[in-house]
Amino acid sequence: MQVWNGIYLVYCQVMYEKQFPDGFYWGAATASYQVEGGIEHNDWAQAAREGRVPPCGRACDHYNRYAVDFDIAQELGHTAHRFSVEWARIEPEEGVFNAEAILHYRAVLKALKDRNITPFVTIWHFTLPLWFSESGSFERDDAPEIFARYAAYVVEELGDLCDHFSTMNEPNVFGSNGWLRGSWPPFKRFLLTDKIAITNSGRTYESRAHKGLEPVKLYFKVMKNLARAHNASYDAIKQVSPNTEVSVVKHVIVFGANWNPFNKIKAAIANYFWTSVFMNRTHKHCDSIGLNYYFYTQFGDKRQWKKTDMDWNFAPEHIYDALRMLGKYKKPLFVSEAGLADADDSDRAEYIKKQVVATWQAIQDGVDVRGHLYWSLLDNYEWALGFEKRFGLVSVNYETLERKIRPSAYVYKEICQQNAVVE
Ligand code: BGC
Repeated sequence: MQVWNGIYLVYCQVMYEKQFPDGFYWGAATASYQVEGGIEHNDWAQAAREGRVPPCGRACDHYNRYAVDFDIAQELGHTAHRFSVEWARIEPEEGVFNAEAILHYRAVLKALKDRNITPFVTIWHFTLPLWFSESGSFERDDAPEIFARYAAYVVEELGDLCDHFSTMNEPNVFGSNGWLRGSWPPFKRFLLTDKIAITNSGRTYESRAHKGLEPVKLYFKVMKNLARAHNASYDAIKQVSPNTEVSVVKHVIVFGANWNPFNKIKAAIANYFWTSVFMNRTHKHCDSIGLNYYFYTQFGDKRQWKKTDMDWNFAPEHIYDALRMLGKYKKPLFVSEAGLADADDSDRAEYIKKQVVATWQAIQDGVDVRGHLYWSLLDNYEWALGFEKRFGLVSVNYETLERKIRPSAYVYKEICQQNAVVE
């Protein structure tokens, strides 16, 4: 009898259990402006004062409640946590650094260590100090040096408490939303129409339009400067802390195609422009690479996709393709963000399981993936869309600031604790 039980168990193991490598990191991510609250002197707060994006206010008040939030992460079996530090807090004036902000982030890092949660710090996640945005942002010729000085300062001050730093989050999203679509600061829009309007909670936020090619030229300049900024900060960080692991967090859209060869060419071009151009410029200055995956889209696709609350195709399994795309740079990868907006939590558990299974498959096929950080630990400020979209494993009541763990978070907990997904 015992022999049969044993054989059955081994069978289950082989057939249904997808085991991850030892030491694989499991957890979730957040970003400073989206959760902390009380940030007034960056470009997004300024844009909100001008009525161009929804105000962020106290957000989740994570700045004061991080310990409670990390208790929840610990309870949910997380062994890693990604968060960003706020540039506007740390360097409120050009070249002037704020010791108090550093003390705060040191306390945050200690709180994670106390809970045996490994921190992954992002040095810059979209928001800029006003002095930098108002003086030209990444259009400035000296932006790479300015950024490198800030990045090295952060690692010098926090590097004893954290081994994993990412210089920047999703440079392409930052560049294209700011300089082509004009939906984010500095609202430079390419196209012949006058306005882009985002309606949210019954209110419409409009962005400035720039006719002609000026925004496109600036977009290419900004993208080049971002790559230079990453490379310069990599070198500057290595000067102050040679053993720190430095990565970039790259948003990958997987563009697929149906059978049609023209669509295949279109997809190859789109993948090249969205992912390869930036990575080709920076991969030699990466010890590892973070993948943010949300999109799969196919040229010539006639399928009716199920949609997430963001109206994005429900395609968690295509994280596999995104991992393969970054895998060709032969660096350790980690999933630095992946998840969905799902206010009633009806699809999140299925989505997570599928994306984790696809990640496991990528590992089986030779991609070196070291961790998986769901976006997001908490509901938060979803940029120009305000607070309506709910990405959190944990829901936040913005009136009372009460946190409630969603059922899907327990499904993820089981994966984190078993270091495996059982189908
Ligand atoms: C960003 C997050 C954002 C998430 C969902 C990512 O592109 O890094 O800040 O909230 O996507 O849209």
